[in-house]
Formats: sequence, C-alpha cells, structure tokens
Amino acid sequence: MIQTIALTKRYGNFLAVDNLHLSVDEGDCYGFIGPNGAGKTTTIRMLATLLQPTWGVARVCGHVVGMHSRKIRPLIGFVPDYFGAYEDMLVQEYLEFFAAAYGIRNPHRKRVVVDVLELTDLSVKISAPVNGLSRGMKQRLSIARVLLHNPKVLLLDEPASGLDPRARIEIRELLKELKRMGKTILISSHILSELAELCNKVGIIERGKLVAQGSIGEIMRKVRQRTVLRIGVIGEAERARQLLESQGDVAEVHIEDGVLKVALASHVEDYSFLAKMLVDRGHKLLTFQEEPANLETAFMQLTQGLVQ
Ligand SMILES: Nc1ncnc2c1ncn2[C@@H]1O[C@H](COP(=O)(O)OP(=O)(O)OP(=O)(O)O)[C@@H](O)[C@H]1O
Ligand SMILES: [Mg+2]
Repeated sequence: MIQTIALTKRYGNFLAVDNLHLSVDEGDCYGFIGPNGAGKTTTIRMLATLLQPTWGVARVCGHVVGMHSRKIRPLIGFVPDYFGAYEDMLVQEYLEFFAAAYGIRNPHRKRVVVDVLELTDLSVKISAPVNGLSRGMKQRLSIARVLLHNPKVLLLDEPASGLDPRARIEIRELLKELKRMGKTILISSHILSELAELCNKVGIIERGKLVAQGSIGEIMRKVRQRTVLRIGVIGEAERARQLLESQGDVAEVHIEDGVLKVALASHVEDYSFLAKMLVDRGHKLLTFQEEPANLETAFMQLTQGLVQ
C-alpha cells in the first residue's frame, strides 16, 4: 500500500530524509518511530502529497507521489501533528464542512457525520463548540475528520502526543478498531513501547535514516545479543544454578530474588532441553520463561547507533 524507494528530502543543504526504503502492506499497522527531528513529519508529509521529494519515489496505493497526487488524496486520511484552525465552529458544522469539501452530498453527508462521531466516541459532543473540546477529544475529532471519505490508508503524525494516559488509551482503542475495519495505518511516535501493542510492523528512523524495520520480534532479536530465561525452582536454587552453568549452551547464570536468570549462548534458539534436564535431575519447576523484551532499551540502542 505504501512503498518508498530511496526517498530523500533536502531542505537546502540539510538532509532531513535520507534514502528511505519503507514498505507497508495492505492492512498493516506500521509504527514509524524516531526521536525529535528524525524526519518523521517530513516523510509523512511527502506520503500525504504535501511535500515534494527531492529524490526517490514514494508510492501510495500504487500511485506515485508528485505524479498522481490527485489520485492519492481521496485514498488517504492525513492527521497532522497539530490541530488546525476552524475552532469557532460546532463539532457537527466542522465535520459537515469537511464532508462537503470531500464532495459528500446530503442526505448522505449527515449520516456520515453521525457515523464517524459514533466511531470516535464523540456523539455526545455533536453540538459542542470545537474550541471547548479537551485535547484528547480534539485529537479524536481530527481522526473523525479524515474518516469521512472512508480512506483506505491513514497517515497519523503523533496522534497521542501531549495526551494524558487515559486519552492515549482511548486513541489506541480507536486505532485498533480502525485496524479491525481493514484500514492500512502508518502512525508516528517517539515511543516504541507505545506502539508495540498496536503495530504489527515498525520502522525506526534516526537523522533521516531507517535504522531498523520489521516486526517488534525481529527488531528485538536484532538488538538483543542473547536470550535470557527466568527459571524458578522450588528450593535448591544453588544446585540448579551449578547444573545450568555446566551446560555448554549457557553463557551465564545469576540468582535474583530466588529466580535464576540464565543467559544463553548466542546461537541457542530452542532451549526446551534445559527444562527437561532440570526436571530429570529432580528439580521442581515453577516458572520457565523468556525474559520479556525491554523496548526502551532496544530503542535507545538502535537510535544511538549501538546496533548495526
Ligand atoms: N521547512 C523546513 N526547513 C528546514 N528544515 C526543516 C524544515 N522542516 C523540517 N526541517 C528539519 O528537518 C529535520 C526533520 O524534521 P521533522 O519535522 O521531519 O522531524 P520529526 O521526526 O517529525 O521530529 P519531531 O519528533 O520533533 O516531530 C529536523 O532537523 C528539522 O529541523
Ligand atoms: Mg514531527
């Protein structure tokens, strides 16, 4: 649905987006993650046909940005990282204004406005003034606005920034619903962990360059040098530690709060033999699990160039 080939944007001599190869398939929810100034907004504005690439190609729904921009616009919904003007309108007027701009006629227009308000959980605000809405509601209204013409692709530039935890969760639930409806979504954020649950694919950008792309699992495998297991046994932790340490496939073992933390050698993928060995040697296993990935650490390592 979205594909970029060597996509590049220069502002004067400054390279804001550098040779970007992105690939987003139909139905994907793609998390576009990077620190301030990484080039997220610049990339999204190019995909939204609002900025011309300096070099390279961006394709959205098979159409090339800059050549077929008019074909792309009805197929996408772009939510910028700021809420625009029109604040002195009522919610219903605001949405009807944009629906009219999208060429949606009455009586269908009224129906569509009611539908998007319901979807974004703003029905009770239909007669409220836009400038009286909370920040979270305004953000949902921005999303409602780009759903009016039922686009296939949503481009969302940091829709959760500046929101409190509850409003963030509400936005995430809304995006999950849109994903279930089959929309292809590209969403940017500073925070990898915020998108981990929502997105099936992520791309990490820093200083204009894509430093990693893939599923969260693939990204974590790239970052993590080796797998760490947490193993809990009933009693005899020290004996279990010695036994584990004597295995060639185990790099290191510590005991932390009675739980064994076992770092495996880098080539080990199937570690089930360790559970079997412990049980065979008479240990009673309480827990045996891979330590959950730490997304914050992964993000810091990737954006500091610690992982190639
Ligand atoms: N119109 C412009 N003229 C010159 N430089 C610009 C312009 N727009 C953006 N830049 C620069 O390009 C780089 C990328 O900016 P961009 O807004 O795309 O980053 P971002 O990843 O969206 O950052 P943020 O997380 O802060 O929103 C920044 O260094 C920025 O200063
Ligand atoms: Mg930005």
